[in-house]
Amino acid sequence: MDGPSGTGKTTVARKLANRLGAGYLDTGAMYRAITLAALRSEVDVAEADAVTKAAKAAELEVGTDPNAPVALLDGEDVAAEIRGDQVTSAVSAVAAVPAVRDLLVGMQRRIIERVLAERGGIVVEGRDIGTVVAPDAPLKIFLTASADVRAARRLAQDSAAGREANHVDVLRSVDRRDRLDSTRATNPMRPADDAVEFDTSDLGIEGVVTSLCELAEQRG
Ligand code: C5P
Repeated sequence: MDGPSGTGKTTVARKLANRLGAGYLDTGAMYRAITLAALRSEVDVAEADAVTKAAKAAELEVGTDPNAPVALLDGEDVAAEIRGDQVTSAVSAVAAVPAVRDLLVGMQRRIIERVLAERGGIVVEGRDIGTVVAPDAPLKIFLTASADVRAARRLAQDSAAGREANHVDVLRSVDRRDRLDSTRATNPMRPADDAVEFDTSDLGIEGVVTSLCELAEQRG
């Protein structure tokens, strides 16, 4: 499942995994944790070599249970910190570094293989899942929503987490990140040719989950 931020991707992916009895992988959390590692090492995120070095030195662990998102960096629980402004502003630069993508795509493929063997299914969310990480996936989904709706959802998440924000700033930040993610040279965000596209602007989350669940069941 791919798509820009604020499309309801995480909520939909976790609910879908639950309904299907499948595992779940949030690849965005992996790019965010590596970004936090780079920031903690006081690396300039525009310096690809230094970012790569920090990424290779980081010990990263992510959970695959849709009910218990876990992100550990060097053994520390960083699930809340990786959603903060500092990481959110820097993550697209880190995610544009080809060596970082190589490292994380390899890790993601190994996790997917393990979970498929253990549970028989997995819902993976990100930006390049259908195009790069799992091009043979039986069902590829690309979620979209209008910029205003995406900013409003991001704002609601920020408020719920106690982070200060306003609509204009959030809209600017969402737009900036999506532009960087869809124009980078390596693995830019785009729907796979055979992806099913869903605009979630006017649809309730439950409606989207039910439709996707039916599609997933049809595809086995
Ligand atoms: O999904 P989330 O908003 O947490 O992703 C954070 C960032 O990680 C994205 O803006 C993008 O730069 C990067 N990302 C990526 N490829 C993925 C998942 C996330 O480049 N598969």
